[in-house]
Amino acid sequence: MDSKGFVRNAWYVAARSADVDQRLMPVRLLDEAIVLFRGAKGEAIALEDACPHRKLPLSRGNLKGSTVECGYHGLTFDGTGACVAAPTQGDPIPKRARVRSYPVEDRYGFLWIWMGDGPPGEILDIPNFDNPAWGRTKPGALDIDCHYLYVIDNLLDPSHVAWVHVTSFAGAGTDTRPLDIEELDDGVVVSRWIFAEPAPPYYRPMLSFGDNCDRKQHYECRLPSTAINMSVYTGAGAGGPGRPYPDDVFLNISYNFITPVDADRSLYFWFQHRNSDPDNAELSARMFAGATTAFNEDKAVLEAVHLGMKHRRTPYMNLGLDAGAMRFRAKVNKRIAAEASVEA
Ligand code: FES
Ligand SMILES: [Fe+2]
Repeated sequence: MDSKGFVRNAWYVAARSADVDQRLMPVRLLDEAIVLFRGAKGEAIALEDACPHRKLPLSRGNLKGSTVECGYHGLTFDGTGACVAAPTQGDPIPKRARVRSYPVEDRYGFLWIWMGDGPPGEILDIPNFDNPAWGRTKPGALDIDCHYLYVIDNLLDPSHVAWVHVTSFAGAGTDTRPLDIEELDDGVVVSRWIFAEPAPPYYRPMLSFGDNCDRKQHYECRLPSTAINMSVYTGAGAGGPGRPYPDDVFLNISYNFITPVDADRSLYFWFQHRNSDPDNAELSARMFAGATTAFNEDKAVLEAVHLGMKHRRTPYMNLGLDAGAMRFRAKVNKRIAAEASVEA
């Protein structure tokens, strides 16, 4: 169950793009202190938040154009982490005056940061992001005081909705129907179909299939900590494994990007993406509010789980519903071990 350390060679969401501006914003990600800001042209910059002289956080200094000046003795760094001024030293600038700079990218309303030492890979592809027929909520952000893998466990667990999300995602069959598990190269999918039952409260106003419908819960997690939770609804009798979706299928995909702060805290970024009503701002606002309520229900449970597990005095046990999460944790541990062996 325990997983020590983090996958480092990965893109993580550091913040919502709109939350990063021409102010110095300190964040802790994967237990590293980082300062985020935008330069004079709006370009996003992420630097190690520690001056190489006495390690004063640069976020306590001054932003000057696209450079940041240390608030202790004025060492000044550009967006690449190079020192461009050392006022107390004169010329030349000391060679060791340099901070780490992290690759960053604005995409999907979020600011992504590459935390690895290797060359950056690809950011997750989100199909239909630019498809004008799809609608979406604004990006959400939440702080959760728990280890990030408890959030991932939760996002690979379609059963908890029956107890945690009674007024939103719960519905007949979310407690007892069997789960399918599929392994991907870089992830795990836990899913199930629930046939001919009423839709849960969150989705009912969006559907026009009559009293009952077929529903698929598709809970997918990809390394290091991205969860793609898709809800599929069809008319009763039209859904089922291996069958193509009918034209009137309703899809809502909750994209969840979890970024570890440290072993006890996580950042949770998300948005919801649906294949209908692209311009319905009222619906987007309602979905944003509904999902925010539900994710706060998760937050309350997960923070208590984290403390319960951390301070446990008696053994814990697993249930059948944990099988997908256990396989995902095994993949995380393998990736962390592989990164450690390359470094060693
Ligand atoms: S601590 Fe930054 S210049 Fe001295
Ligand atoms: Fe949940």
